[in-house]
Amino acid sequence: MTKKYASLKSIASYIPPKCIKNSDFEEILDTSDEWIQKRTGIQMRYFASPEQNSSDLGVEAAKLAIKRSNLKIEEIDLVIVATLSPDFLGMPSTACLLSTKLGIKNRPAFDISTACSGFIYLLALAKSFIESGTYENILIVGAEKISSILDFTDRSTSVLFGDGAGAAIISTTTQKEHSILDVHISSDGAYSDYLLTPRTLKGSHFLEENLIPQYLQMKGNETFKLAVKTLTNDVEEIMKKNNIDVNSIDFFIPHQANLRIISAVGEQLKFSPQQVVVTVHKYGNTSAASIPMAMNDIYEDGKLKNGDLMLLDAFGGGLTWGSALVHFNGN
Ligand code: ACO
Repeated sequence: MTKKYASLKSIASYIPPKCIKNSDFEEILDTSDEWIQKRTGIQMRYFASPEQNSSDLGVEAAKLAIKRSNLKIEEIDLVIVATLSPDFLGMPSTACLLSTKLGIKNRPAFDISTACSGFIYLLALAKSFIESGTYENILIVGAEKISSILDFTDRSTSVLFGDGAGAAIISTTTQKEHSILDVHISSDGAYSDYLLTPRTLKGSHFLEENLIPQYLQMKGNETFKLAVKTLTNDVEEIMKKNNIDVNSIDFFIPHQANLRIISAVGEQLKFSPQQVVVTVHKYGNTSAASIPMAMNDIYEDGKLKNGDLMLLDAFGGGLTWGSALVHFNGN
């Protein structure tokens, strides 16, 4: 029997309407455009409107990804969403809401929670479902309304993040040279307190817990150091395992958290500035949406061509991390 491979058939993104500049934060916090740009590279980010939730952002990206794949809605076999800012805590899943908004019926749909590594974990799942022959076409979406979980009195976190969504169709191919070559995912819960959103506990007749706001908290400095080390090691491992060198990579797309992290990792790995994709200056950190949004940017700029090889690399809360070697198999 011919071997089945998973391939990236299409990519798309959605950017919500409201652009927030660094200078807008100067009005509510003791911060400055200069500090934010110098320490993070971020110049602006976009926030969703009050009516938009993560599923709404994801739907827009998904519609475009499906259109670009030339598939019909009925041909989508599975929907998986990665998000750290779901519409609802617990249930229903953002994937179920998104599927219904797209008109997808009687198909499995579920969320995963791996923070900024979300898209790499999605690729790992989709690859495995396709190579096992379980499904033919899978919609994967990273969708984030992070503005809904930011503490706007905390200058060390609120200036870093943005909202947005990225979606991709992963489909079966028989051509290895057009496939997702490899995906590596990992985690270490020992560092779970580096990035977290503490649960809201309501006091009740039976329990005496206090109300704790469910805002994103981060040990920025510690996370920074671990991110540089882990992202670099991860790339070295996946390239060595697949016998691929830096010159064979068309685009290196790291998670977009901080320009200083991206530059340090890019330089250590000896990628040229032309190979490294940077979007953090215009979108901020959009967590699970950051890598597909960056991929979509090079696609819409006409740079990403069929057969190009991308190296993706992410790191996020959990802690989680992962990397992937992905050929583009779209048009
Ligand atoms: N404006 C002005 N000053 C600020 C701001 C701000 N917005 N934020 C922090 N500062 C101050 C701090 O209070 C501190 O002041 P002090 O010296 O008087 O105490 C000073 O700046 C330095 O603070 P640091 O935290 O040491 O600053 P650093 O250079 O490390 O930058 C940052 C902070 C941007 C958060 C950086 O550490 C970072 O990018 N960390 C990694 C983020 C990341 O990769 N996250 C992983 C993925 S995210 C996910 O999974 C959801």
